[in-house]
This record gives sequence, C-alpha cells and structure tokens, in this order.
Amino acid sequence: MVPDNSIVIAPSLLAADSVKFGAETLKVHRSGAEWFHLDIMDGVFVPNISFGPDVIKSIRPLTNLFFDTHLMCSNPEILLEPFVRAGADSITIHVELGDKVTPLIWRIRSLGMKVGLAVNPPTSIEQVKPYLKHIDLLLVMTVNPGFGGQSFIPEMLPKIQKVHDWRKSENLGFRIQVDGGITQHTACDCHRSGADTFVSGSYLFKQPRLKTGVRKMRQALNVVDQQ
Ligand code: DX5
Ligand code: ZN
Repeated sequence: MVPDNSIVIAPSLLAADSVKFGAETLKVHRSGAEWFHLDIMDGVFVPNISFGPDVIKSIRPLTNLFFDTHLMCSNPEILLEPFVRAGADSITIHVELGDKVTPLIWRIRSLGMKVGLAVNPPTSIEQVKPYLKHIDLLLVMTVNPGFGGQSFIPEMLPKIQKVHDWRKSENLGFRIQVDGGITQHTACDCHRSGADTFVSGSYLFKQPRLKTGVRKMRQALNVVDQQ
C-alpha cells in the first residue's frame, strides 16, 4: 500500500477478456498502473458471480502489481485465508456487513494484508466513521456493486468530500478509493473531491491501448493537482 496520497490507478479484472486473463494481466502489468483491482462476487451480497481464489493464484506469478481484492461477499470470513494464500495484498469488505466489520478488520490485518472498507451508494457515509482509524483504504462506491459498465453516480461526490474532510481533521492516512463508472473525466471530478485511488474497468479496457488510457488518466489527474 502506498502510504502517501499519491495517485494510484487500478484497472479492474472484471472488465478484462476472461478468455485470456493471463495476457490481460500482462497488459495491466505493463500499463503503468500501480494496482490490479480484483472484484470477487458471491451471487448473494450482489446479484452476480465473478471469480475466486484460484483465478487470483493463477495470475499472481505474472505480475508484482498490488492485488487490491474487493470482496462483494456476504461471508468474507471464509475467504480470507484462501485469498491471502492466492496472493491478495489487500482485502476490502463492505460496511453493510454490520457487526461483522470489526472482527473482519482485525482478521484481515492478522493475516498480514492491508484493510479496505467499502460503502455502497445508498449507505450513509456516517456508517464508516467509527472504522476510519483502523483501515488503510476507504472505498466510496460510485455505482451499485455487481456489474461493470454502469454509469457513474455524481451524487457520491459529497461523500468523497466528507471522508476527505474527516481524514484531514483526524489526521488519518487511509487512501480514498472510488470504483464504478470511473473514466478520465469522472476520475478528475472525484479527485477534486478528495479521491486519490481510482478503479477503472470498462473505460480503461475499452481504450485502444490500456497503457495510453492509464497515462492519459494520470496526466488529467495531475492537471487537477496543478489547478
Ligand atoms: C462493480 C465493481 C467495480 C467494477 C468497475 O461492482 O466493484 O470494480 O468492476 O467497473 P467499471 O469501471 O466498468 O464501472
Ligand atoms: Zn470493485
């Protein structure tokens, strides 16, 4: 995990061509992105099923990129050890899991991984406040989780700003990540509100060259920093 608030771009495996996950992983490896975002869906927490630890294990040897593992799962406790063995570097769970969140945070950390906490669009941002000093990453979902290719929800921008203000007032160091409908344009909107870590699936994988898409997104974000 990069401790400062430098920009991190994380292409999402969910948008890759699943016929050739290996080649797609190498493409991401060479793209200039710092992280690889891995969406794990159980068909219960979200109405979709994606891929499991075995897929992560198979692509792990292909890259040293940070494996940012987003568990959209109702019982993540049974998945933590399989994913740490598969090579996950961080595990993000959802605040919507309620009483499970605190024990999960400590279990993830005890397994030596970085800890992320995600909040869905309908959920009040106040719900994440008690956990902020215990996490490395706060993920503000900018779509309802479950599928790639959805439209960005601009009403999430004030939530990003709020978390950014809390991070500053409490002098905390967690990353602020956004995920869902992130393009070069919406990434800049989120950056202006305080996000520093950008998951992008369909936008980046639709570019003629993923590497160019990452470079242009980064350039646009750097321009925001100079404004
Ligand atoms: C949605 C996932 C996102 C998704 C992003 O449930 O958490 O990571 O893959 O895909 P795009 O960038 O296409 O919205
Ligand atoms: Zn995700």
